[in-house]
Amino acid sequence: MLMNQVETALINSPPRRWLQRWYEVPWLRRLGGPLPPDARVLEIGCGPGYGTRLILEQFGAAHVDAIDLDPAMIARARRRLAGHGDRVRLHTGDAADLHTSVGAPDAGYDAVFDFAIVHHIPAWRTALAEIARVLRPGGRFYFDEVTARVLARPTYRALFDHPTTDRFTADDFRAELHRHGLHVGDRWRAPIGGDYLIGVAERR
Ligand SMILES: C[S@@+](CC[C@H](N)C(=O)[O-])C[C@H]1O[C@@H](n2cnc3c(N)ncnc32)[C@H](O)[C@@H]1O
Repeated sequence: MLMNQVETALINSPPRRWLQRWYEVPWLRRLGGPLPPDARVLEIGCGPGYGTRLILEQFGAAHVDAIDLDPAMIARARRRLAGHGDRVRLHTGDAADLHTSVGAPDAGYDAVFDFAIVHHIPAWRTALAEIARVLRPGGRFYFDEVTARVLARPTYRALFDHPTTDRFTADDFRAELHRHGLHVGDRWRAPIGGDYLIGVAERR
């Protein structure tokens, strides 16, 4: 589901970019390591495209397909990523249906990135099944998520809009990954007592 105005402003702000560059990316690199040479990557819910830039510049992806449900975010991402030419393709679409939104084939990607978007998808289990489908065996899912614990906090409820049913805890999310053949092992952390979840799963 789309973000409200408050969350949209926050996601487009310098503090969000700082967090992504100096906290999330270093943790994802530590847990998942670098990408293979010539990696083809899919990023779901790319928002304004700052994470896409980090995937290109810090992880060294050769090519990124990035999608977002919000056409205004895709327009921002297009401006931000204009200098990267045909290494990036941007699509407006739903991460729960990657065939329609990106034309993503089975096993077509070396890695999928999720910077804080799956908790916005009511059909989040379907989205994880789609991620498993499009990853090649040995491919990696880098995720950074917001759990039911923090979504239930009064500040979050007052400020932001999120799906209200079938929210996931860190354990629910890892169990669902496992169900789709995405193995996390010990490559995960749940900061602030499980309010957030960051990790890397490998497609078996
Ligand atoms: C919290 S923002 C994160 C944006 C960016 N990844 C970041 O970390 O700054 C969540 C993004 O997911 C997008 N989104 C929500 N539901 C989606 C869906 N079903 N498919 C694709 N994108 C979706 C929203 O439009 C929004 O840009």
